[in-house]
Amino acid sequence: MNILIKNIQSLVNVVDQPDKWVAGEDMSHLNTLDDAWLFIENGKIKDFGKMNSLKENDIQGQVLDATGRMVFPSFCDSHTHLVYAGSREIEYGDKIRGLSYEEIARRGGGILNSSRWLHNTPEDSLYEQSLRRIHEIIALGTGAVEIKSGYGLTVEDELKMLRVIKKLKETTPITIKSTFLGAHSIPAEYKEDTDRYVDVVVSEMLPEVGRQDLADYVDVFCDRGFFTVEQTDRILDASAHYGLRAKIHANELDYSGGIQVGVKHHALSVDHLEFTGDEEIQALLKSQTMPTLLPGAAFFLGLVDPPVRKMIQAGLPIALASDYNPGSSPSGNMKFIMSLGTIKLKMLPEEVVHATTSNGAYAMGVHDELGTITRGKTGNVFITQPIPTYQFMPYAYGSYLIDQVILNGEVQNFSI
Ligand code: NIG
Ligand code: FE
Repeated sequence: MNILIKNIQSLVNVVDQPDKWVAGEDMSHLNTLDDAWLFIENGKIKDFGKMNSLKENDIQGQVLDATGRMVFPSFCDSHTHLVYAGSREIEYGDKIRGLSYEEIARRGGGILNSSRWLHNTPEDSLYEQSLRRIHEIIALGTGAVEIKSGYGLTVEDELKMLRVIKKLKETTPITIKSTFLGAHSIPAEYKEDTDRYVDVVVSEMLPEVGRQDLADYVDVFCDRGFFTVEQTDRILDASAHYGLRAKIHANELDYSGGIQVGVKHHALSVDHLEFTGDEEIQALLKSQTMPTLLPGAAFFLGLVDPPVRKMIQAGLPIALASDYNPGSSPSGNMKFIMSLGTIKLKMLPEEVVHATTSNGAYAMGVHDELGTITRGKTGNVFITQPIPTYQFMPYAYGSYLIDQVILNGEVQNFSI
């Protein structure tokens, strides 16, 4: 399918030869092309330029007029748990009354609550519930999403989740990466001997995930009250045998050592990072690991904010992701994540655009195909409603400003 978008007020995040990521001071520069056209041919970005260079007669395909509108590369949401059953608004009530995330988890709520729901939900219903969320995030401008298992916590149920993610990959136009997160929480029967659960993850779950080729990456919740550095080390060592690169939940609840163990294993990303000090920053500076912040979870749970300015000033890149999940961030709205990045984390509008597009793409291993307006990349973009500036996107935090979504060069028709 070929599409020509013309009269674009501003084409945002145009890069001829993108680096692997955008870091430090560079994050505050965003390249745009005003009064532009963009041509997508056979699903790929073929060319773009200024309107005065457009030779429309040479171009065949659907024509969209974007007068007064901007075109962005689709969001790349590198951290979600959007395959889940049911919801957890009852615990949200407990939270409002004063219980912390960890207290709810200790009472058998939290992740274990979702795990019970998931166990009792047939696979096709789990797929249908998750498909609705995929359609929702497509309408919200997301063109690539990483999805984790981790509400199964038994061999059978983890495989069930991963099969649902695989089916979503096969049946939806969005780019999906799948992550095995068997070590997300400790099931009640292993509470007294958590190493025995790690044995199950390493000796029973991983070999099946590997044999059935059901995951692209592996994750561990390496934090206070969940999995230790030693247990994480063991799981990541074992995962390397199956070619699974790590994306770690780290330093959300404490200085857990999760960042360092992730870096040691060449993790693609370490995520959350509320507790990031000088030692963690130094470890990240020597790595190929994307520091990924999840301001939706910090906002929803009332956590401390990560020291993002310090991290950027030290020269690090930053990605932002939604963490879409039923317990700590029940939203996959990446435009709102941009707003939280600016409002709560005091990132600049330019920085949040990089963090939700190209750096998000790196954090899920798709930066060669997605994340910028670059010739040869996949034609995943969205056209905004008429807006005055790109800064208006994070600024107008409650407005739905997306007019048309294009994935693989095809206009999508999902509404929110
Ligand atoms: O990223 N921190 C751990 N896991 C999820 C929460 C999952 C849940 O509560 O269901 C997170 O916040
Ligand atoms: Fe998460």
